[in-house]
Parts: sequence; structure tokens; C-alpha cells
Amino acid sequence: MSASSPTTATGALDGANEKRGLWSSRMAFILAATGSAVGLGNVWKFPYITGENGGGAFVLVYMLCIAAVGLPIMMAEVVIGRRGGRSPVNSIRHITQRDVLSSRWSIVGIIGVLAAFLILSFYSVIGGWAVSYVGTTASGQLTGQSAEAIGALFSNLLADPGTLLLWHTVFMALVMAVVVKGVRAGLERAVSILMPALFVLLLTVVGYAMTTGHFGAGVSFLFKPDFSQLSTSGVLVALGHAFFTLSLGMAIMMAYGSYLPKDISIAKTSITVSLMDTVVALLAGLAIFPIVFANGLEAGAGPGLIFQTLPLAFGHMPMGSLFGSLFFILLIFAAWTSGISLLEPLVEWLEEQKGMNRVRSTLGAGIACWLLGIASILSLNLWSDVAPLGMFAMFEGKTVFDLLDYLTSNILLPLGGLLVAVFTGWFMAKDALQSELSMSATGFNIWYATLRYLAPVAVMIVFVYNLI
Ligand code: PHE
Repeated sequence: MSASSPTTATGALDGANEKRGLWSSRMAFILAATGSAVGLGNVWKFPYITGENGGGAFVLVYMLCIAAVGLPIMMAEVVIGRRGGRSPVNSIRHITQRDVLSSRWSIVGIIGVLAAFLILSFYSVIGGWAVSYVGTTASGQLTGQSAEAIGALFSNLLADPGTLLLWHTVFMALVMAVVVKGVRAGLERAVSILMPALFVLLLTVVGYAMTTGHFGAGVSFLFKPDFSQLSTSGVLVALGHAFFTLSLGMAIMMAYGSYLPKDISIAKTSITVSLMDTVVALLAGLAIFPIVFANGLEAGAGPGLIFQTLPLAFGHMPMGSLFGSLFFILLIFAAWTSGISLLEPLVEWLEEQKGMNRVRSTLGAGIACWLLGIASILSLNLWSDVAPLGMFAMFEGKTVFDLLDYLTSNILLPLGGLLVAVFTGWFMAKDALQSELSMSATGFNIWYATLRYLAPVAVMIVFVYNLI
């Protein structure tokens, strides 16, 4: 991979390169986009929300949301980015000027920046859990432990704000350290090695899960739909997660798309990224649920699910301390590359709009996010009874952490995605879209109809159902 390829939305452009500002290859774009997409959402969030929403039916709806809503919107974001050729807010502005549309569309970029900021604040706290588990697994203290002991270890972590703060700080510092330099080819190379490694280790845990004697139960939990288990709010969670896991609705793919050379197929690359993302999530599910059933654990245990199940697997497999610490290190890398893509939009926005330099904007954005993260930490222990917006039925009983998650995944991201779909499907010039996508007529028509009708209607129906 050439050292001059930019890896993020930044102006990480190399003047020496003739093809200034373009990805070094199709692979480079795929790696960066996958680096953003594959993260805690796949390994941590997908299994636990699947457990909370009853399994198979949820997984089916989730996959439908990926294919029928997420993928077309990802393509739309990449199209806007490549067409505009600038940072998200300016790309949209540029397109609106050229096609004589309202400049208010740049709100899409603003919603994105806000959502990314809010997500990173709690994402970093969870990233911190993963950091803390590297030591826990490496020290060998999990070896041969019972499910209860491992569960207690996790509860103790959550009950201890000081330790949580330490690891949250470490994670945020890792993210800031990369963003402050402007993201370079090193990250691209890291993703190309670490993602396959994470994949292999996930397969190792799946291999262990097969030996538990409950693999079949795990498979049928994941793939046998029982619609009586799925509520309408579960459908919203599935839709919201499709956006979260593909990093959509936040203008991130728009930023990446602006660096994509014209001759590369947007459809094929978007399909590749979505497929890889889905495969990682399903593998995580296949690794975790057999362990849940084999140990009589609760599938709906919530956000702690992977931290109560995977350590059990590592405590019982040969060389578990080694595999376990390696696994959590790789999970940190996956979370790190996603975290970087979450901080980048705000930093870039501060640079562009407020004229700050990179160091100041990274420090400002990173510290603000770190501070907000402290509220999420406290909501796991000292503030576990505090529900800031509890007076609204929709937010009843939601702690700061729950609230941030709900607000971003279930409201802001689908809203951002809806606006992207409407902007692209109803306002951008059709011939411009055709020339960007250069697909077969049938392929294009399917995409266009999905974007104009199916995606916006689906998002609106799910919204309406959940807001009334
Ligand atoms: N997609 C990432 C994950 O699944 C999270 C993320 C969301 C990253 C939005 C960037 C933007 O973990």
C-alpha cells in the first residue's frame, strides 16, 4: 500500500502523489471502511442485543435492514462523497450549489458530527472494558473459573468507577494519539493484518463453542426465527444497529467516499464491506451463544454478555490465557479503528469551521468526549438509578449510558440515514447518480427505488411505531 494514501477524512493528502487525494487502491478504501464498520458493534453489541431481543427473528430483521436499508444508504453516502469530493458538510454544500438545492441539507453533516461525538463518549468506556480484560486474561486468573466467579469479576469492574475511568482514559488517549497526527498509511496496514487476525481468533472461539455440546442450541437461537419473541421496539433496535454497525448516518462513509477513484465500483465495494461486517457479527454470535447455553447463563444479560461468556471459554480452552489476551487486544484494535473514525468528523469540523489547528481541535474534541464518558461510567455504578430524561415515557428508566445509546443508534443515525436517502433519491440529479454508480440499468433501478421508497418508508414506519 502506498504511504501516500489517506486513511480518513482528513486532508491526509500527499502532494507528491499525482493522484492526489485518492485511495491507493480499491483495497485501501475497503480496509478503511471496514476498519470503521467492524468494531465493538459486531463483537460486543450485536450478541447482546440479539440476546435481549430473543434471537432468530431479530437476526433475520437485522439482516434485512442491512441488505435493504443499510447497503443502499452506504452506497448513497459514498456517492455523495465522491461526487462532492470534499469533507462531508462541504461535499453536500457543493452538490446543493451545483444542483441549485437548499443549503439546509448540510444539516446531515451536522447531525453526523453530533452523533459521532455522543457515540464515542460511551464507546470509549466499553473500549476500556476490553483494555482491562487483556490483563485479566493474560494473568491466568480466569483459568478453570466458574461462570459465577467470572460474572463477579465483571460486576466488580462495573462497580469501580476509578478503574473504569483509568481504562476509558487509556482508550480515548489511543484514539486521540492517532487522530492528532492525521491518520496515515500505518493504520491501513494495521487494519489489513489485524482484521484477518481477529477473524481467525473468532473462528478459534467458534471452534471451542463447538465442543461445549450446545452448539446446536446456539445455532438455532441465532437462525431459527420465532416472531413471538420480537417486539416493535426490537425492530427499531435492529434498524438502529444496522446503521451503527455499518457506521452510517454519520457522514463517515461520505468522507471516505470522497477519496475513492472514479473507476472503482461503489456497489461492489459497499457490498464487500457490508458482507465482512455481517460475517464478523454472526461469528461473534456463533462463538457466544453456545457458551451461554452450556453454562446456563442468561442470553439477555445485556451489555456485559461477552465479558461474561468469552472469558469462560478462554478459562477452559488450552492456552486460553494466550488466546484470550490476544483476542481482547484484537478487539481493542477493532474498536480503536472505529473510535478514530468517530472522532475524526468533529476534529475536521472544528478545523474547517472554527479555524483551529489539528492539535487544538483534537484536544478540544477528545477531552470533551472523555468528560461526557465519565457520566456513562458513573451511570454504571453511583448513578445507576439516575434517569436524566425519565419524565418522558420513551426514556423511562434509562441511565445516561442507555440514553446516549438510544438517542444515537435509535434516533440520530436512522434520521441521518433517512435524510441521506431522501437527498440522494429525490434531490440529486439522476444522471449524476448513474454516472457515479455506472451499474447495469436493472441494478441501478433497484438501488434507486430502494433509496427513494423502501428505505425512507421503512425508517419512517419504524420511527412512528416507536414514537407514538
Ligand atoms: N461501526 C462501529 C462498530 O460497529 C461503530 C461506529 C459507529 C463507528 C459509527 C463509526 C461510526 O463498532
